[in-house]
Amino acid sequence: MESQQPRVLSQQEILAMLTEVSEEEFAEAKTHSLTRLKHQILFEGTPGGATVRDTQGNEFIDCTSQAWSLNVGYNHPDVIAAVVEQMRHLTHVRYAYSTIPRIKLLNRLPKLFPGNLNKVVLNNQGGGSAIEAAMKLAMINKPGATVFLTAHRAYHGCSLGTYAASHYFRGVARFSGFGMEHFAKFPYPYCYRCPLKLERQHCGLACLEIVEDVIHHGANAPVAGLIIEPMQGAGGQVPTPSGYLAGLKEMCQRNGIYLIYDESQTAFGRCGAMSAAEYYGVAPDMMVVTKGLGGGFPVGALLAREDLLGFNAAEEHTTFGSNPVAFAAALATIEVMLRTKLPERSRMLGERATARLLHLQEEHALIGEVRGSGLFIGVELVEDPRTRAPATERAAALVELAMMNGVIFDVDMPEVECGTPTCRNTIKIKPPLTIQETQLDRALDVFEEMLKQVEQMDADSLAMVRAQIMKEAVPDRKP
Ligand SMILES: Cc1ncc(COP(=O)(O)O)c(C=O)c1O
Repeated sequence: MESQQPRVLSQQEILAMLTEVSEEEFAEAKTHSLTRLKHQILFEGTPGGATVRDTQGNEFIDCTSQAWSLNVGYNHPDVIAAVVEQMRHLTHVRYAYSTIPRIKLLNRLPKLFPGNLNKVVLNNQGGGSAIEAAMKLAMINKPGATVFLTAHRAYHGCSLGTYAASHYFRGVARFSGFGMEHFAKFPYPYCYRCPLKLERQHCGLACLEIVEDVIHHGANAPVAGLIIEPMQGAGGQVPTPSGYLAGLKEMCQRNGIYLIYDESQTAFGRCGAMSAAEYYGVAPDMMVVTKGLGGGFPVGALLAREDLLGFNAAEEHTTFGSNPVAFAAALATIEVMLRTKLPERSRMLGERATARLLHLQEEHALIGEVRGSGLFIGVELVEDPRTRAPATERAAALVELAMMNGVIFDVDMPEVECGTPTCRNTIKIKPPLTIQETQLDRALDVFEEMLKQVEQMDADSLAMVRAQIMKEAVPDRKP
């Protein structure tokens, strides 16, 4: 093999390019960036761990896993070793070419999930691309059907198609509406805020009847598929209640509709099992996975029932959609996950954290509900447990204060109603599944301390936070 030493740049130049940045450069970058940049410049993650340092040397315990993706922790050594090895051989090929990592990943993925999900298509964009692949595959297999059912407060991606599939970011997104004729929406079984105002113990899953109604009367063309997050992530960390997915599956089968799980967040141990399909014991017709799969590298996949027709060469391909380096990362990530039993670890740590949070709830009326499974935890904050009015400002303040105290949390997706921010009141606790117990305890200590602080906030402080949320929600709104 030929020398891999740099030929044009010096090693020092490369080092400086990647490890040094001035205040001026950062300020200038902010003027160029079309998207908002956070204040911290993240620089170095702990190999295989849950902590990350910024360029100032501040260390954070990351309870977001960087968009719930670093299930095996930051730059896991085995993943890095696989990536470096692969990079020595090949870094990019055109979509149709086979490579060794692609072959092995195609063979590996179906063995991880229940059902007959033996057909796979890979990408290097993530969940949105895989959801669109699922929609295309459903339309190929059910010609003439062009409508999909999706849930209220769903999130399926940021491409124009998946944005339309997702919940409407009311008052925040400025290009919603595109492609909406292809989607019919149904209420998600968000039991804490039941769409039918029923009690979980006695409801008989009556909300399933609404879904059936939308299938028959809510779509303006034949329905191809129903896309659902078995546990809603961005919408507020909401698991479907027991029996719901089995009911949906029966309904989809009866109506000839493909049941598509969006497991972008839940798969690869996040929910305490390898997938939510396994957790609930209900396999879909198609399943989308990404995030945790790549161990920090961009990989998405659609798995589909083996009897379904696949794509022809014109229907599914992108320039960078077959990246051998990212696929090598995924192969190593899967093995690390299995050998270190990360799904079990997630379940165990999740139970421990949830028990503490439930105990905290007994003492703090601000906590409306603690929910989730494994290290997929949501804590919904409310102004009053009876009215359940969202404590949006207190949740935002808690996230901000925690960051100042070395812990990164996040909240659910934004919404603005009549010029005021609303919802976005569920704190997500979703650290790498490799997080040490002491680190998780520390993160929960900070959560508790900050909860006590935001509980005391007065009207003026809440108004200041509200103004800040609005500024960030739509930063360059024209007058
Ligand atoms: C459930 C779900 N589906 C789809 C997506 C979109 O994935 P991506 O951003 O990789 O396109 C996300 C991203 O957060 C998600 O949480």
